[in-house]
Amino acid sequence: MTDLAARFDLERGTIAGGTLTERRLSQLRGAFADTRALDDRLSRGDDPLVYTVSTVEHGSGEGDQHVGLGVLYPGRIGREYFLTRGHRHRRAEAAEVYIGLRGAGKMILQSSSGTSVIDLVAESTVYVPGHTDHRTVNTGAEPLVYLGIYPAWAGHDYGSLETQNFSVVVVDHGGAPRVLDRRDFLASFGIHH
Ligand SMILES: [Fe+2]
Repeated sequence: MTDLAARFDLERGTIAGGTLTERRLSQLRGAFADTRALDDRLSRGDDPLVYTVSTVEHGSGEGDQHVGLGVLYPGRIGREYFLTRGHRHRRAEAAEVYIGLRGAGKMILQSSSGTSVIDLVAESTVYVPGHTDHRTVNTGAEPLVYLGIYPAWAGHDYGSLETQNFSVVVVDHGGAPRVLDRRDFLASFGIHH
């Protein structure tokens, strides 16, 4: 029970004894900026698996921690790289530590004090402070595999991002990732908000 790493399957992105959640493209409507590209893909009957999270919940007490092993697959919708839906914690003060295990990507962190984009790659660590929306983006060609470690009482809140998406997008620009203002990106293909 204590040797958590021995229970990881980094190829399949699972933790033995964990709970597996799968997210397909059709479940991420609203997360991607280019809704036309998303609808085109779905209308061809192509609904790829975008990411999975395998979660181990070590109790629910005040001092307990949960561990999630995330696998975010490579791909793009239009120019925008595959991403997670993003959330903040239901108890917003809960912070989280992400540890990159494989692949290359970025995390978008957004709070009332602003938005930052931080590399999440193998052997890197990203600290997500409390009161911060967080999303993972795969900018590479292989699966991005990472751990998230957070208080058992943190919970997940997806609602605040339903109405207001992250202020930036991470898009392909000539084969390399570039961070753009969402409004500017939407305006570039004729969508104005
Ligand atoms: Fe989180």
